Amino acid sequence: MLTANSRMKTKYAIVFICIVALVIIEKESNILSRVSDKLIKRQTPQQTPQTIQEYGNTTENSPLMVLKVLLSKLSVTEGNYTNLSEEQEEEEPDDLGFYRGGRKQVLLMATTRTGSSFVGEFFNQHGESMFYLFEPLWHVERMLATATEANNGTVLAGIYRDVLQALFLCDFSPLEKFISPPPQDHVTPDLFRRESSLSLCEEPVCTPVIKDVFERYHCKTRRCGPLNLTLASESCLSKQQYAIKTVRVRQLDTLQPLVQDPRLDVKIIQLVRDPRAILASRMVAFSSKYQTWKAWAQDGQVPEDDEEVKRLKGNCDHVRMSAEVGLSQPHWLRKRYMLVRYEDIARYPMQKAEEMYKFTGIPFSSQAREWILKNTQTTQVASGIYSTQKNSSEQAEKWRFSIPFTLAQVVQKVCGPTMKLFGYKFVDDENTLINKSISLLEHKQFN
Ligand SMILES: *[C@@H]1O[C@H](CO)[C@@H](O)[C@H](O)[C@H]1NC(C)=O
Ligand SMILES: *[C@@H]1O[C@H](CO)[C@@H](O)[C@H](O)[C@H]1NC(C)=O
Ligand SMILES: *[C@@H]1O[C@H](CO)[C@@H](O)[C@H](O)[C@H]1NC(C)=O
Ligand SMILES: *[C@@H]1O[C@H](CO)[C@@H](O)[C@H](O)[C@H]1NC(C)=O
Ligand SMILES: *[C@@H]1O[C@H](CO)[C@@H](O)[C@H](O)[C@H]1NC(C)=O
Repeated sequence: MLTANSRMKTKYAIVFICIVALVIIEKESNILSRVSDKLIKRQTPQQTPQTIQEYGNTTENSPLMVLKVLLSKLSVTEGNYTNLSEEQEEEEPDDLGFYRGGRKQVLLMATTRTGSSFVGEFFNQHGESMFYLFEPLWHVERMLATATEANNGTVLAGIYRDVLQALFLCDFSPLEKFISPPPQDHVTPDLFRRESSLSLCEEPVCTPVIKDVFERYHCKTRRCGPLNLTLASESCLSKQQYAIKTVRVRQLDTLQPLVQDPRLDVKIIQLVRDPRAILASRMVAFSSKYQTWKAWAQDGQVPEDDEEVKRLKGNCDHVRMSAEVGLSQPHWLRKRYMLVRYEDIARYPMQKAEEMYKFTGIPFSSQAREWILKNTQTTQVASGIYSTQKNSSEQAEKWRFSIPFTLAQVVQKVCGPTMKLFGYKFVDDENTLINKSISLLEHKQFN
């Protein structure tokens, strides 16, 4: 009974995912609408290959190919899932009536300069049962941000979600379509920040370097050949836990189909930070892009209808709206959403890490504990703008001395509701801004 029920739900989910995939891909090519009509009518993923053949030849990188891969993977994983649920008949279904597998996935959702690399390490350092990816969506953004037909937040968000969904299922093929130059036989030397992922730099994913001429193939701790994504996928399947950190998902509600995928057990941690600190940090890290802000600071005048200011407001609004969705605990997100402030992590790293691990249901390993101890308490020289090795409590407050008061005021004006929601106190004068004995953080409990 139970098994039949969950099988039926799986079928529904698969049909739903196919339709979502089709709807997104349809927008990219005209001939696709004919294909999708046929597919939706038949609702049988198994027949896809023939259907695609009927409509002509495809090149490796076409959206059709992406769809084909997606669909073929879906029919394969359906079988796996059915077996899984048979083994787990004793287990209780979750809120949505699904029997999820034993694997756990964590999505660390952040924006740039919120300390997400640092917090990502809490999971990256967990140990050998963890598979971790650092900003895989970088490739998607780079390829699509300039393509006008995809330069639409709604379409892009759907593609981000589908790539994440496949990655969480250990399927790299949708991501491969966005890696440039294209991987050869699923092997690439160009995966963005591969070295930030321990699982891509250890055996067996780290393959020997045959000719020692490709410096950039090397991981930090050891020298590895170019990345074989087939090996990465196999390694991924052998691990019980999976974390992905991303700064590219803007709206939490676009992830609903991913969270509801019965083959996954996704928990989302949204990491936020004081928007004044984010601006200050961006002005240092992306110095040339923020020339206008610097000029405004010197003038003492900020044109509030400028595109830059609107972008800042847009960012703040997206972060707030995502948090509002998460905190309102909709049915699909129940027990799957956690909001964390960077400032709390900087002050109490161990306690916050423990809370995050508890929320995810992943045991807090001694390796992760040791890494956090080592990287928050010892004196470390900040070794670069992307460095994760910082004296975190000191680092978290540094912005107060680098942001001109005029700019802090602008942020307070356009990001006011966001700051209120997260408990960041406003300052009315420069002395308060730079007086370290005044905390700008309200104590707040979110979850
Ligand atoms: C599709 O292209 C491949 C290689 O370009 C070719 O071998 C094959 O015959 C083509 N198939 C059709 C149906 O045109
Ligand atoms: C983006 O695409 C969606 C769905 O096709 C459409 O409703 C929306 O109007 C588009 N937005 C823009 C800004 O083009
Ligand atoms: C990548 O790894 C797979 C799985 O072990 C192997 O079959 C394949 O030959 C490797 N590819 C290359 C180009 O070495
Ligand atoms: C980290 O920085 C804080 C604030 O400046 C300081 O009190 C603390 O001693 C530092 N910790 C270490 C281990 O250097
Ligand atoms: C900083 O704030 C504290 C508490 O309000 C106050 O006692 C102190 O005088 C202030 N320091 C400066 C330099 O203004």
